[in-house]
Amino acid sequence: MTSTFHFLPLCTLLFLIISPSSLAQTSFLPKDLVLPISKDASSLQYIAQLNQRTPLVPIKLTLDLGGQFLWVDCEQHYASSTYKPIRCHSAQCSLANGNGCGECYSSPKLGCNNNTCSQFPDNTVTHTATGGELAQDVVSIQSTNGLNPGRVVSVSSFIFTCGPTFLLKGLASGVKGMAGLGRTRISVPSQFSTAFSFHRKFAICLSSSTSFDGVMFFGDGPYVLLPNNDVSKSLIYTPLIKNPVSTASAYTQGDPSAEYFIGVKSININGKVVPLNQTLLSIDHKGFGGTKISTVNPYTIMETSIYNAVLKAFIKALANVPRAASVAPFGACFSSKNIGSTRVGPAVPQIDFVLQSESVFWTVFGSNSMVQVSNDVLCLGFVDGGSKPRTSIVIGGYQIEDNLLQFDLATSRLGFSSSLLFQRTTCANFNFTTNA
Ligand SMILES: *[C@@H]1O[C@H](CO)[C@@H](O)[C@H](O)[C@H]1NC(C)=O
Ligand SMILES: *[C@@H]1O[C@H](CO)[C@@H](O)[C@H](O)[C@H]1NC(C)=O
Ligand SMILES: *[C@@H]1O[C@H](CO)[C@@H](O)[C@H](O)[C@H]1NC(C)=O
Repeated sequence: MTSTFHFLPLCTLLFLIISPSSLAQTSFLPKDLVLPISKDASSLQYIAQLNQRTPLVPIKLTLDLGGQFLWVDCEQHYASSTYKPIRCHSAQCSLANGNGCGECYSSPKLGCNNNTCSQFPDNTVTHTATGGELAQDVVSIQSTNGLNPGRVVSVSSFIFTCGPTFLLKGLASGVKGMAGLGRTRISVPSQFSTAFSFHRKFAICLSSSTSFDGVMFFGDGPYVLLPNNDVSKSLIYTPLIKNPVSTASAYTQGDPSAEYFIGVKSININGKVVPLNQTLLSIDHKGFGGTKISTVNPYTIMETSIYNAVLKAFIKALANVPRAASVAPFGACFSSKNIGSTRVGPAVPQIDFVLQSESVFWTVFGSNSMVQVSNDVLCLGFVDGGSKPRTSIVIGGYQIEDNLLQFDLATSRLGFSSSLLFQRTTCANFNFTTNA
């Protein structure tokens, strides 16, 4: 059964609910929504699939945790009777931080013109941005009670940015755009929360397997993984930090203020503090430095001096294991024959990102630190980010797999579970059998 909702002010929504003619359609307000998230084996991107347009078409999208909005290729194969361009100077245009009006870049066939609100879609994998325009169309998704997917619900005027086909270059095969989950008014989670009046929270749980899907939830818990484990109950919290620099209305790649930063104060390896340049761990007035979480980087990237210090400490702590030749892009590889295994992966020194206090830390165990590059070689899955990166530490996809991360936009805090393998479950354990 499909319920239709409109992206309208609350008073209008209430009117729709009490109006008898629309009662059947709108009497169901979901508290949570759910999406399977797959991992693409060749690009290592995490892929979501939303249904969009009229008639509905499944659209594969690369997940971009810090992305500003949903953008899709409107130049090719976009057909929909419900597509509406967003006019410049409209309320939606200002909500979306639109960049004025004028040019129609990628959707002239769909009806954009010189009175359409401009926006810059960006491919944050290849660091490419270009001109595009804002539009609205129907998006549908499954609701959930936290245990199983339930009935399908839809948002009739979901705001997105239209981009040209060439912007897809570098994205996984079959993907038609990117799903931005960032801290903006028109990111995918913000629009769902507004449309259904639920908590401004969402959670991602990325699978480490390219065969079994992980899961993402919009709304508050429960988030139940088999066998009957509500993982929303075992979260540790840390403040989310906002980068003060916004480039949202510039022709640039990404917007730092939309991204999710956390306050890493130090890094410990086997409980010992790694000496690091503290200046690099905080965000300066130009928006440089700090630690963010990203789903478009497959591995954690560290500024050179941090990377070298962490590598040195890790190698020292694992001195009893023979080194193997490095395999790019990694700098510390080991013979796996000499490394035992545990419930949380290879038995290697644990790496702690120490947060707001000594007692709050995010531990990275072997399953999230070591990458199997061949039968007998394991490498530390961190990459050298050079000496002047914008962000000092970018925690990448491999390090957050099989961890549940909940982003609470209202209170600006992150809830993290650490490795779910400890709790004998994984992110591939949501029961996707529909219970309508
Ligand atoms: C916008 O397009 C209309 C119709 O094509 C045209 O008449 C008008 O001059 C254009 N305005 C500007 C400012 O380019
Ligand atoms: C620490 O990093 C800052 C910012 O990059 C730099 O200016 C400073 O020289 C560094 N300090 C040391 C001791 O390397
Ligand atoms: C998954 O959910 C369905 C529907 O509720 C249920 O019948 C089934 O037993 C569940 N599977 C497992 C493994 O619990």
